[in-house]
Amino acid sequence: MSPLTSAFEEAYLRPPEGVWRAPGRVNLIGEHTDHNDGLVLPFALAQGVSVAAARRDDGVLELRSLQAAADGRVVRVDALTPGAVDGWAAYPAGVAWVLREHGVGGASLLIDSDLPQGAGLASSAALECATALALCDLYGVDLERPELARLAQRAENDFAGVPCGIMDQSAALLCTEGHALMLDCGSGLSSRVPVTFDGLTLLVIDTRVAHTHGAGGYAVRRAECERAAAVLGVASLRDVEDLPEALGRLGEPVLRRRVQHVVTENHRVEATVGLLRAKAAAEVGGMLTASHLSLRDQFEVSWPAADVAVEAALVAGARGGRMVGGGFGGSVIVLTADDRLERVRDAVAAAFEARRWAAPGFLEAVPSAGAARVV
Ligand code: GLA
Repeated sequence: MSPLTSAFEEAYLRPPEGVWRAPGRVNLIGEHTDHNDGLVLPFALAQGVSVAAARRDDGVLELRSLQAAADGRVVRVDALTPGAVDGWAAYPAGVAWVLREHGVGGASLLIDSDLPQGAGLASSAALECATALALCDLYGVDLERPELARLAQRAENDFAGVPCGIMDQSAALLCTEGHALMLDCGSGLSSRVPVTFDGLTLLVIDTRVAHTHGAGGYAVRRAECERAAAVLGVASLRDVEDLPEALGRLGEPVLRRRVQHVVTENHRVEATVGLLRAKAAAEVGGMLTASHLSLRDQFEVSWPAADVAVEAALVAGARGGRMVGGGFGGSVIVLTADDRLERVRDAVAAAFEARRWAAPGFLEAVPSAGAARVV
C-alpha cells in the first residue's frame, strides 16, 4: 500500500478509490507568450502532485493536504462560488466548481506533493490537473485532455482569481516522457518534440524568492500586452508580423519593450524546436540566455537572484540559462554539459552565499510523463 493510500485511510477511515498524479513543469522556452496566443515549449518534471480520492454521495467536498495538515476544508459542492475558498484549497475546490456542470459532486481528497511550491514549477496547475482527473474518473466524466486543461485554467482564473495562461495545465495533462510539448496557444494545436540531453543536464535552480501571480506584476504585464495589441489593431501580439513597423507605431517605450519580447520569444521557440529536432540540444543554451536577457530587459519580469544565478552559471561554463515562469521570483533553468555540472552548481551556490542569500535549491529536470491515474 502506498503511503498516500494509508494516510487517506487514516484521515477518512475508508480506502481511496484511486490515486491520480500530475507533474509540475519547466518551460524550456516561450515565456509570457501563452497569454499572447503564442508558442510555448514546456516539459513535465518527474516531480508532481498526487491526489488520493473517494466519491461522496452527499455533495460534500473534503480537502486535506499532507503539506498543510492543519488546514483541511469541508465545503458543499453546490455552495461553491468564487472567493468562497482561499489558500491552497481554492485550486481543487475551483476544479470541483468547474466540473459541477459536468455532473461532478462530492468527494474526499488527500493531496501530497514532492514539488517545491512557489518555485515557478506550476505546482498549482499540477494540483488542479490531478484533482480534475480524480473527479472525472470518480464521476465517469469523459473529457478530452485539452478541454480538461481549459477547465483547470478556468478554475484558476475565475475561482482562485489567478490570471494564468493555458501553458501549465496543458503541460501537466499533455506532456509525454522524453518529450517537450510545443503548444500553439492560439490554435490549441500541439506537437511533441523529442528532447535528448545526451551529456547535458538541465538544472532547475530554485532562487528561494517565492512568487505569486496573485500579486500584481503578472496581471500588469498581461494588461500591457493587451493594450499594445489594441493600439496595433491586432487580436493578440501573435499576429504582429513586421516587428520594426509595429514598434514604430507604438508611442510608449514600455509597450515597445513588451512587444519586442513577445514577438522575438515566439521565434526563439521555433528555433529551439528546430535545434532539438536536429539533436543539437547543446545549442539550445544560447536561446535560453537570449530569452533571459529579453525577459530581464524588455519584459522586465526577472529578479536579482535570477540574474545572479544565470550570470554565475554562465561564468562557470554553462551553455545558457534563463528565468522560468511568470517572473518576480521562482526558478531559473541552466543548461550545462554534465562535466561542468558540479562547477556550475558550486558557482551559483557561492554567488548566493557571497550575498548572504538563502542557499538555492537544485533539481535536475528530466522530461517525464504527463498526468495519469497511478493506483
Ligand atoms: C505563469 C503562468 C503561465 C505563463 C507563464 C509565463 O507560469 O501560469 O500561464 O503565462 O507564467 O510564461
